[in-house]
Amino acid sequence: MIRTRKLFLFAVFLALTDSQNLTPTDTPPTEQSLEENKFFPLPPTTPLPTNAVAAVDDDHDDQCTSDKTIIEKLLSNYKSFKTPSETGVIVWIEVWVQEVNSVNEITSDFDMDIYVTELWIDTALRYEHLNPCKYNLSLNSEILDQIWKPNTVFINSKSANIHKSPFKNVFLMIYPNGTVWVNYRVQVKGPCTMDFSAFPMDQQSCHLTLESFSYNNQEVDMQWMNWTTPLSLLKKEIVLPDFVMSNYSTSLKHEIYPAGVWNELTMTFVFSRRYGWYIFQAYIPTYLTIFISWISFCLGSKMIPARTMLGVNSLLALTFQFGNIMRNLPRVSYVKALDVWMLVCLTFVFCSLLELAIIGSMGARSENQAQKQKQLEEETTKQQKGRENSTCSHMMSPSSCPSSPRICRNHVPNDVPQSFKSYGSTDPRMRKRLMLTSNTAISHAPHENRAEKVLLLDGLEETQFSQVDTKYSSMVTIKMKKQWTTEEIDQMSMIMFPGLFTVFNIIYWTYYLTVNN
Ligand SMILES: *[C@@H]1O[C@H](CO)[C@@H](O)[C@H](O)[C@H]1NC(C)=O
Ligand SMILES: *[C@@H]1O[C@H](CO)[C@@H](O)[C@H](O)[C@H]1NC(C)=O
Ligand SMILES: *[C@@H]1O[C@H](CO)[C@@H](O)[C@H](O)[C@H]1NC(C)=O
Ligand SMILES: *[C@@H]1O[C@H](CO)[C@@H](O)[C@H](O)[C@H]1NC(C)=O
Repeated sequence: MIRTRKLFLFAVFLALTDSQNLTPTDTPPTEQSLEENKFFPLPPTTPLPTNAVAAVDDDHDDQCTSDKTIIEKLLSNYKSFKTPSETGVIVWIEVWVQEVNSVNEITSDFDMDIYVTELWIDTALRYEHLNPCKYNLSLNSEILDQIWKPNTVFINSKSANIHKSPFKNVFLMIYPNGTVWVNYRVQVKGPCTMDFSAFPMDQQSCHLTLESFSYNNQEVDMQWMNWTTPLSLLKKEIVLPDFVMSNYSTSLKHEIYPAGVWNELTMTFVFSRRYGWYIFQAYIPTYLTIFISWISFCLGSKMIPARTMLGVNSLLALTFQFGNIMRNLPRVSYVKALDVWMLVCLTFVFCSLLELAIIGSMGARSENQAQKQKQLEEETTKQQKGRENSTCSHMMSPSSCPSSPRICRNHVPNDVPQSFKSYGSTDPRMRKRLMLTSNTAISHAPHENRAEKVLLLDGLEETQFSQVDTKYSSMVTIKMKKQWTTEEIDQMSMIMFPGLFTVFNIIYWTYYLTVNN
């Protein structure tokens, strides 16, 4: 009914075009195109195809068989559960990587879009003998559902979906010799084995494993396509914001299960982190913080509050930066490269604070000492006035003196200058001065006393500390410290800190930049 009506309309259309000097397109026009063609005239030179009407009825030659007939014939006796060959079928696999969407550290997985190609020979689908018009049949997923498939799955995927928009992204082609070519576009999420020990100079490897879920390798022998590269990228380079795909490879493993041996085809993708972000966000700021903490050494021992502020601020800045970067990583219990960096930097800042503490305490002590000395001097001048008439009743004897310098101390003769008498004080500077003054005193003293005084001083230097009054031991230790002035410590720190930091940098960067290559 419809066809006759169409033909009638076509005849009417021809009459119209003749009268209006218009010609239609090759295909028989519909009612709508008829209407349109009236208003959009085509070039008059185009001849009207004489077999246009015949083409509608007949879509094949007499010599060859049409696709439709071939498919109907092929599927009429087809059993989709029957394996193509009793001796096993080789399924060739090829994968094209379209895009890697993400690599997620927290969930330890990656997400990618890939094309999976499977190729096998199904003798039941041969149609060479049917004299086909075309030497390949392109079909859709409906036909795929009706034929045997090797049931390939991603055995380790977290999720895998064939893209369905706007229809199932499946390609099926059957060759006359029975070769079946199937291609899917799949979004798949696979696992990664994350190792952050070299973070942020790390590499992560991710795996996807393909195998036939239903058939062991006696029935389905899965192989990577060996006449081409089995895994290839559709893009020149796969670059994510924080990763770049640095290597990919394929491997085949025979896995033994209770039901037989399965061929597992594994794809391995290696992603190298692009650590530029960490250079700018972690390393350069910490360098600056460390350098700032060294400014403290130039400020001198008087500016303790300013130096404290510098040190503490550096410490806080480092801690904050560290926390900020670590927030987006899983809490692994081993040491990462960035942990090493941050902890060493924190230690450097901490040590500069310790140095400051030493400088501070030394400054405080010297101030104390200055005060004490003043008091002492005042006291001694008073004492000297008070003792003008008192004398030492027992002059020391040479035999008793070396063993007990304490006794000697209490019996210093009056003719020795006053500073000598007061050497029992804890003040090391007093002692030093005492040494000097006593020497001069000795030279002035009478001959018989001189030997005793030398003895006394020798005893003071050589006596065991345990036997001597604690005052002496404290005197000696203070004398040891006294070798370093605050300025000297600052100067030494100014060389030591940058020196050690440079050494640390050389070791750190050579180690972590070579560990992955
Ligand atoms: C499929 O057949 C057509 C001709 O019918 C040919 O041009 C095309 O290259 C063939 N495709 C493949 C993949 O063999
Ligand atoms: C089947 O035909 C295709 C296309 O002509 C060809 O590429 C393939 O090698 C053939 N396979 C066999 C087993 O002959
Ligand atoms: C591919 O592998 C098959 C057997 O697995 C072998 O017969 C064939 O020669 C290989 N082809 C190439 C190009 O290596
Ligand atoms: C890629 O990985 C393979 C296998 O692991 C290895 O042989 C090859 O050297 C790697 N290539 C690069 C550029 O790292």
